[in-house]
Amino acid sequence: MSENRGTFGGILGTIAVVGGSVVGLGNIWRFPYMAGENGGAVFILLYFCMSLFISVPIMLSEFTIGRAGQGNSMASFRKLSKNRLWQIVGIMGMLTAYIIMSYYAVIAGWSLDFIYESAAGNMMGHSPEELSTAFTSFISSGTKPILWSLLFLVLSCGILVFGVTKGIEKANKILMPLMVIILVGMVLNSLSLPGWGEGVNFLFEPDFSKLTWGVALKALGQSFFSMSLGMGAMIVYGSYIKRTENVYRIAGIVAISDVTIAILSGLAIFPAVFTYGIEVTSGVELVFLTLPNIFNQMVGGYYISIAFFLLLFFAAITSSVSLIEVVIAFISEELKIKRIQSTAIAFVLIAVVSILCALSQMPDSPISLFGMTLFDFNDMITSIFIMPLCALAIVFFVGWFLSRKVVFSELSSNGRYPYSKLIKFNYFMIRYIVPCVIILLFVSGVLSLFA
Ligand code: PHE
Repeated sequence: MSENRGTFGGILGTIAVVGGSVVGLGNIWRFPYMAGENGGAVFILLYFCMSLFISVPIMLSEFTIGRAGQGNSMASFRKLSKNRLWQIVGIMGMLTAYIIMSYYAVIAGWSLDFIYESAAGNMMGHSPEELSTAFTSFISSGTKPILWSLLFLVLSCGILVFGVTKGIEKANKILMPLMVIILVGMVLNSLSLPGWGEGVNFLFEPDFSKLTWGVALKALGQSFFSMSLGMGAMIVYGSYIKRTENVYRIAGIVAISDVTIAILSGLAIFPAVFTYGIEVTSGVELVFLTLPNIFNQMVGGYYISIAFFLLLFFAAITSSVSLIEVVIAFISEELKIKRIQSTAIAFVLIAVVSILCALSQMPDSPISLFGMTLFDFNDMITSIFIMPLCALAIVFFVGWFLSRKVVFSELSSNGRYPYSKLIKFNYFMIRYIVPCVIILLFVSGVLSLFA
């Protein structure tokens, strides 16, 4: 099997690919609305600490499983342990990637529609109310969001058929730098708005009365989502990282980039939220409601609007390839079929649920689960339940079941980077601290959210 598996090129290629997975809609679309709904700065502080102290050890654990196991999320566990139960974790991870992708494609489809509408000049010259009505009628129209999300899936699968190096890595090396340039330009512009001060206070001045177990669990879920953890993506990507690469450097750079991009998107969005009197708790629509208002009033708004939605699209596609890759690697290696066929099967499977997700956004849609739209349900079930539980299983596996020798050898790339203190510290975190924090937050958070 290993002859057919790809590997990423050098360190730049690896960071572009892993960074491309990590930085996505989670940073630019999900982070601002989650922060808005959960108290702003307190949520951000928790998200920041969890990303550095909880998510980095989990990322290293996933890399360890992928590098030592050299397979898809399930095969890697199979190779490393005789106990078949562990393979369930791999399957759960793959299913999570599948569920996330189904609503991810819908949001990414919105970004394509906004690129089109911006380029056609339809976003300019409208009041905030008109823009908001137009958006509501768009997402509830059914067909339009479906077509855009299908187009997005076609584009993602178009990259994926070219494989790991020629497809994913090549595309990411171009898209990631472009994305950063656009985002920095957006922040500079946003900081000139009158709501600047309020926006910055909301992001950086914590109000500790907003701190609850539920908020802490959501911050953990956000960190996992944003760092692509708890669903096998980093196991699969880990298996493509060259044996000579330094995993600490990769995880460190990627974690810092993830948090930085999230904060930059907050800085691009919240000054506008306050300037145009939009509710910070607007939920999933926040970014799509606030930003068109800024573009409307800005010199050069026409071009900046196109640039921003392109940014969102780039961020989305470099992440979606990693989500779909989890499904493709699974199908092609487990069913032993060619990449092109597995890509086609993954496309069809994801397209079906994406269509349902898009339809569930329509008013009076019968597609709902436990009183939520399928869209909200999928997001909730993955980020609050499955990702924390899969992450817990992953750290348990690496901390307590995998031999210490294998873990140390993977973390030091076979002795090439012998950071003994760092490795010991991480191993300690993986064995004791990370599982305790996940269990504590999971139990208290779930109890408080459903109390
Ligand atoms: N991390 C991606 C984002 O921030 C989403 C993602 C989750 C990608 C899980 C892969 C795996 O948008």
